[in-house]
Amino acid sequence: MYRTHTCGELTGKHIGEKVTLAGWIDARRDHGNLIFLDVRDRWGKTQLVFNPDDSRDLHAAAEKLRSEYVVRVEGVVDKRPQGTANPKLSTGEIEVRVSALELLNASKTPPFEILDESDVSEEVRLKYRYLDLRRAPMLKRLGLRHQITQIVRRYFDGHQFIEIETPILTKSTPEGARDFLVPSRLSAGCFYALPQSPQLFKQMLMVAGADRYFQLARCFRDEDFRADRQLEHTQIDVEMSFVTEEDVMSELEGLLIEIMHKVKGIKLQLPLKRLSYQDAMNTYGSDKPDLRFGVELKDVTAILKNTDLKIFQSVIQAKGVIKGLSISGQEFSRSDLDHLVTLVKENGAQGLAWLKVTAEGLESPIAKLITNEQRKELVKTFGTKPGDTLFFVADQWSTCVKALGVLRNRLAERLNLARRDEFKFLWVVDFPLFEWNDEEKRFDSLHHPFTAPKPEDLKYFDSEPLAIHARAYDLVLNGTEIGGGSIRIHQRDVQNQVFRALGISQAEVQEKFGFLLDALAYGAPPHGGIALGLDRLCAILAGVDSIREVIAFPKTQKGVCLMTEAPSKVYPKQLKELSIQVKT
Ligand code: AMO
Repeated sequence: MYRTHTCGELTGKHIGEKVTLAGWIDARRDHGNLIFLDVRDRWGKTQLVFNPDDSRDLHAAAEKLRSEYVVRVEGVVDKRPQGTANPKLSTGEIEVRVSALELLNASKTPPFEILDESDVSEEVRLKYRYLDLRRAPMLKRLGLRHQITQIVRRYFDGHQFIEIETPILTKSTPEGARDFLVPSRLSAGCFYALPQSPQLFKQMLMVAGADRYFQLARCFRDEDFRADRQLEHTQIDVEMSFVTEEDVMSELEGLLIEIMHKVKGIKLQLPLKRLSYQDAMNTYGSDKPDLRFGVELKDVTAILKNTDLKIFQSVIQAKGVIKGLSISGQEFSRSDLDHLVTLVKENGAQGLAWLKVTAEGLESPIAKLITNEQRKELVKTFGTKPGDTLFFVADQWSTCVKALGVLRNRLAERLNLARRDEFKFLWVVDFPLFEWNDEEKRFDSLHHPFTAPKPEDLKYFDSEPLAIHARAYDLVLNGTEIGGGSIRIHQRDVQNQVFRALGISQAEVQEKFGFLLDALAYGAPPHGGIALGLDRLCAILAGVDSIREVIAFPKTQKGVCLMTEAPSKVYPKQLKELSIQVKT
């Protein structure tokens, strides 16, 4: 038998028992002639004592043990001597007096110490991920992810959903990213695409009558990296038949209640807050606003419209707006302000004006252009007090709010306005169905092309496509989009109308989506669904900044797995079999 207990299990209750433990040597302390070693496994650490008076041979063997050696030990559980208990450790009350030791495997000196807190570079951590994962916080995060997936499975099982796997080798479904392609050996010159999501398959399952589907689905998107993006991610993917937006959202809210209660001990208040896309953008400058802090954007066009400032004048003439926000409790140096100006310019705005409010009046390069009356109005609008700073952007509405939204987030980060242990959920609804892609001079779907338009907006298809609202909803948590979904189009002619509006030719529609249109023609039920980003949800609940911290084997920012060194070259024979020639 390798073990009778885990290394995190023994307490005062076990004193006097003979036990066997197995694990890794964690830390070693020599005290006079006693050797103390901690043995570690996924559940914790237990202190081992080797006393030369018990056995000289064992003591000598213990002297040779190094960090990360794998051992099996037998011994008796002892109470630690008075004053040496460690209340921080679950096993801190006891130690095991070793009577037998077996070395199961030696270890090279690891490239870094296996500590809870580590400042080792992420590159080294990813190269030796199996050692990095040995660290207690990492194993704990994998445990948290497991806990969440188990809650998800139990919840949906209890609500009459069935878990169905959909293919990984498939045809591309557009989710706005580039596809990963897999060459086919049997059909030379043809490619599978890895699914960006199971979107069309789950819709097919509704046509098939599956009615309530879920899957923990791997999704693959060849898109640029950010802290909350990976080339492959996992979605809690859901689809339901005969439902409205309210049905899908309340089903999800039920799941969130379970997760927040079981994982965080938090009782979520329902219904979750909702904001329209328009209001979210107008008030927070983002369609995924972080509601852990206020700092709302206010429209000051009416107050500042007569300011003798060229940029304000020209924006107002071009039917733009002036909006601003107010920040308390921070002294901004000139160079701080310059950085913020650069930030909003990088985000599309023409500039950023600022006003420091002091007891004496305003301080700013434009202070002399602001009248007393305007100052009073501004102070009233923002509830400003001396010491606060106001920031303004004048531009077209969309550019203006987006730039201020970025500024709002940056300032909140700098001032630590958001607490990690606070969880603010939000539904964003009433999205436009389309957005204008100025580069390619066409409309794009804001979500995906299978999202149903609001029936009352169908009349705008020909005249004003941007006025059509979608039956879509996004779920936001602490400023991150953790999910998105919609009621889908279930009528063939409406689906065709959307494809047409997106400028997809009839031939391309047939080639790419022929099977969808066919299926819609065979009695597709009204249906809708949602997908939550499991990695993002886990990262936020674990209180970490990057989803890489909650993924066992993530890729770097450059899409490389440093441990296996994927992607890598393949043998010419393999390429030949696939009828592929590589030109580099
Ligand atoms: P969407 O594209 O919004 O919707 O994706 C759903 C959620 O998945 C997460 N996510 C990601 N997480 C990590 N890395 C990525 N590269 C990544 N991309 C997306 C986000 C996002 O909210 N088929 C639709 C869902 C539906 O309509 O039912 C879809 O995939 O948290």
